Amino acid sequence: MRKNIVAGNWKMNNNLQEGLKLAKDLEAALVGKKVNCDVVIGTPFIHLAPVAAAIDTTKIGVAAQNCADKASGAYTGEVSAAMVASTGAKYVILGHSERRAYYGETDAILKEKVLLALANGLTPIFCVGEVLEEREANKQDEIVNSQIKNALFNLSAEEFGKIVIAYEPVWAIGTGKTATSEQAQEMHAFIRGVLAAKYGEKVADETSILYGGSCNAANAKELFDNPDVDGGLIGGASLGVDKFMPIIEAF
Ligand code: 13P
Repeated sequence: MRKNIVAGNWKMNNNLQEGLKLAKDLEAALVGKKVNCDVVIGTPFIHLAPVAAAIDTTKIGVAAQNCADKASGAYTGEVSAAMVASTGAKYVILGHSERRAYYGETDAILKEKVLLALANGLTPIFCVGEVLEEREANKQDEIVNSQIKNALFNLSAEEFGKIVIAYEPVWAIGTGKTATSEQAQEMHAFIRGVLAAKYGEKVADETSILYGGSCNAANAKELFDNPDVDGGLIGGASLGVDKFMPIIEAF
């Protein structure tokens, strides 16, 4: 069956020393705890190698927050999927709404990034979600469907089996305004249906679909109790062990 995953997305927070401390403190907090989900931390690029070296990455997976849409070469400032993989990171968050909105990442660019991530053995955590105006116009299903279709439906069923989806309604990110448990379940079930129609029930059933957007210790359990919500992608509440651990323990 599919995995439960709680993944932190540190975004552009924590210098190297702070990030190393947070990763080690989280590892220490997990000692002796029997958790019912995979735990992942998404760090800035420069933290990946030292964090992956400092912790047991079989207990806490390490994720990049992005990778280049090109394999290698004269792309100043970019970091390739192969470089990410060489640090010991196992995951890469792709298509985050902040990347789409502030850095012009289109479905076509994301399609290339996903292919390169998979070719380098990384598990993409692929983010989808509608903005507020789209939700108010009841267009969320259409938007999410097109984001998935345009960036992922070139993959074979076998390739798709390596993808994790994160539904992050943009209006819920960093706003304190979480989607209700019903809204999350409704969208996750819709996504699973979209996957089933393309790849069949088995692939759809085995795909982990995470919720992201103001998920915290107080609302995680209710969200994760839904049959189609397989965990969370956590921003602000992943920046402190005291806030992140209760979300991990919500499973
Ligand atoms: P917050 O949990 O801070 O709302 O961020 C969610 C997010 O964007 C995770 O990728």
